[in-house]
Amino acid sequence: MSGFALVLNPSPGTPGVVILTEGGFRRARAEIASWPGHAATALHDTPSIAKACGVAAVRIKDEAGRFGLGSFKALGGAYAVLQALRHALSLAGVANNASAGDLASARYPEAAKITVTCATDGNHGRSVAWGAQRFGCRCVIFVHETVSQGRRDAISAYGAEIRVVPGTYDDAVRACAEVAEACGWHTVSDTSWPGYTHVPVDVMQGYRVMTAEALEQWGEAPSHVFIQAGVGGVAASVSVQLRSQLPDRPRLIVVEPDRAACLLESARAGAITPVSGALDTLMAGLACGEPSLLAWEELGRAAHAFIAIPDEAAVQAMRDLAQLGIVSGESGAAGFAALIWAANDPAARNALALDAASRVLLFSTEGATDPELYRSLVG
Ligand SMILES: Cc1ncc(COP(=O)(O)O)c(C=O)c1O
Repeated sequence: MSGFALVLNPSPGTPGVVILTEGGFRRARAEIASWPGHAATALHDTPSIAKACGVAAVRIKDEAGRFGLGSFKALGGAYAVLQALRHALSLAGVANNASAGDLASARYPEAAKITVTCATDGNHGRSVAWGAQRFGCRCVIFVHETVSQGRRDAISAYGAEIRVVPGTYDDAVRACAEVAEACGWHTVSDTSWPGYTHVPVDVMQGYRVMTAEALEQWGEAPSHVFIQAGVGGVAASVSVQLRSQLPDRPRLIVVEPDRAACLLESARAGAITPVSGALDTLMAGLACGEPSLLAWEELGRAAHAFIAIPDEAAVQAMRDLAQLGIVSGESGAAGFAALIWAANDPAARNALALDAASRVLLFSTEGATDPELYRSLVG
């Protein structure tokens, strides 16, 4: 199978800016832990995979069950909606620090007049729509034309209006920002750009819960962590949380589709480098051509390596994970696919220092978020 590429970060460990504070994370975690339905997701030990990869252990954090939304994204968008509403109500002089309970019980009728919006390739929009429904505001979600009907339906099930725009996820991000500006809506984006970082910080603080849980559940420090990326927000959140909890930094490996490897290309160039074209990968959640500014600030200095994988490897990984009883969607299985390749490719194995003592942490970041597509690929 061709289409794999590996780029080592030329400057790992370079000191840089703090993109996510510890206080912000403590507040996000306490808030999310108080929501109905909150429970830690499973961390699976997979000795057969460890054996096949010639490493000591492989553990997989399984995000399929997160708040019933099917992916880790439930942690970020919904939390950022809450924060955006609090901020808007405070600016309007309605309430200084409205609680989630107050909003969920419609204590402030003004909240219903607020509109939150975002662009999505599926999972982030679902989280934002879910948050908007829970906290009682209006929601409009922008999707690009190739987002599947199944994913659109999953978003509108939470009462959001869907708007379809031509082009890619990155085009939808721009369309959303323009309409939001014109209409006075609140953009709750999972990606950041110059002048727009406040909300994506809240999104990423929410994501950190996933890594914090995984490290607490394992009890031992991993030596390697593989995490898939679209704009890089979740990879940056993993990176920050590893630094926060572990004295010895594991090697962080960022995994992208070969047709949308904007972080890998940025690492190659030493600066943010968008990739253009149709970005037509099956890994819908990772089909992003422009890195998040904040994510790049973290990953450009802290990731050990960047790997690109072809679609066929992701599909094979979904099937392998299904054999282990783990339901993992097209984007969810990418890190697993990269590990299988790297462990069995002598040059990659060497470059990542994978050996018989390695303890590898992976994240299956989504379940079957498009059940029809999942069935057609896995059977
Ligand atoms: C299942 C899944 N995994 C990983 C990612 C990548 O997240 P990010 O765009 O923050 O890099 C996404 C993004 O939508 C996703 O849906």
